[in-house]
Amino acid sequence: MNADMDAEPPFPSTVTLRVHRFLPRPDRDRGRSSSPFGARRSPFGASSSPSRRRHGRQWTEDFTIAARPEDTVLDCLQLIRRTIDPTLAFRYSCGHGMCGSDAVSINGSPTLLCTATVGDWTKAAHEDGGFRRTGADPGSGEAATAIIDTTDATDAADGGRAKATDAAEGARTSATDVTDGTRSPDQADDGAFAQPPVIEVGPLPGFPVIRDLVVDIDPMFDQIRRLDPHLVGADDPSTESRTAAHEYLQTPAQLRRYELLSDCIACGVCEGSCPVYAGGEAFVGPAALVAASRFINDSRDTLTEGRLDAIDTQDGVAACQSVRACSRECPRGIDVGEEIWRLVAKVKERQA
Ligand code: SF4
Ligand code: FES
Repeated sequence: MNADMDAEPPFPSTVTLRVHRFLPRPDRDRGRSSSPFGARRSPFGASSSPSRRRHGRQWTEDFTIAARPEDTVLDCLQLIRRTIDPTLAFRYSCGHGMCGSDAVSINGSPTLLCTATVGDWTKAAHEDGGFRRTGADPGSGEAATAIIDTTDATDAADGGRAKATDAAEGARTSATDVTDGTRSPDQADDGAFAQPPVIEVGPLPGFPVIRDLVVDIDPMFDQIRRLDPHLVGADDPSTESRTAAHEYLQTPAQLRRYELLSDCIACGVCEGSCPVYAGGEAFVGPAALVAASRFINDSRDTLTEGRLDAIDTQDGVAACQSVRACSRECPRGIDVGEEIWRLVAKVKERQA
């Protein structure tokens, strides 16, 4: 028999997800000071822009699970939540790169959970030289490591329930602790379980964390809303019957000027990549500029001057430093940095 046919199939193999955890302080504790001298007050008075950032406990936690290279990081987190820790919080909706609700940071890069595969992100870690193994850094005592094999759903579910109970008590133990190298003899012989690669998953940078991997993206939507992200056509419906159909004709060339921009799913990945943006408190942010550009480039829109006025401010296009990290990460393939640069050119043209 062919030696290749005797060989064990290479999968399932294991991967460790090193997940950022954050538990906000309960509402009743907010505003209380831990200082025995009472609440501290700023000598400059109350801040004019109250911070959206929450206080609470944060830590990282390792979960080692069986995974195939084609599994997405979202699949892995769902498995963890189903079988190990039902309290793990993350956001998602469509599961295939269309809704933009699941932007996080993976190995330090903003991206979508549902399009990031285990194979790609463990490979990326190899290529970056940043590939790490559990065992190299035992981490804090709060890290928990558990192996769940997806091929045995019943065992996994049972083990998960047991571990979920442990999690609630804050003192977990796992059936097999890979972190300290203790394994059963079966697993010790199984090369697939040795030193699983690590994928780090954290919240989207630049936004206040609500819990674990869920961030508050309202600042981004507030910024987008401020730029009137809707078409204002030449025909004012208020002067005609509102039930009348309004048809705005366009040539294919005119459509091409904004078509790609209308693919933006407002995921916030560009904002999370931008070193200038921080929660929408100052710089308007690349997502809002893309939304503005989408209508500025639309031949049917009549608000072009008003839109350019709105972004022609210190916190508008002028704040962009042309780092262009936003272009690298956009999951819809929009060259965000280039679009912002074109807006800068349009604003300068008006000033000339
Ligand atoms: S421009 Fe790209 S990265 Fe930015 S919000 Fe839109 S889809 Fe997401
Ligand atoms: S879950 Fe909708 S884009 Fe990822």
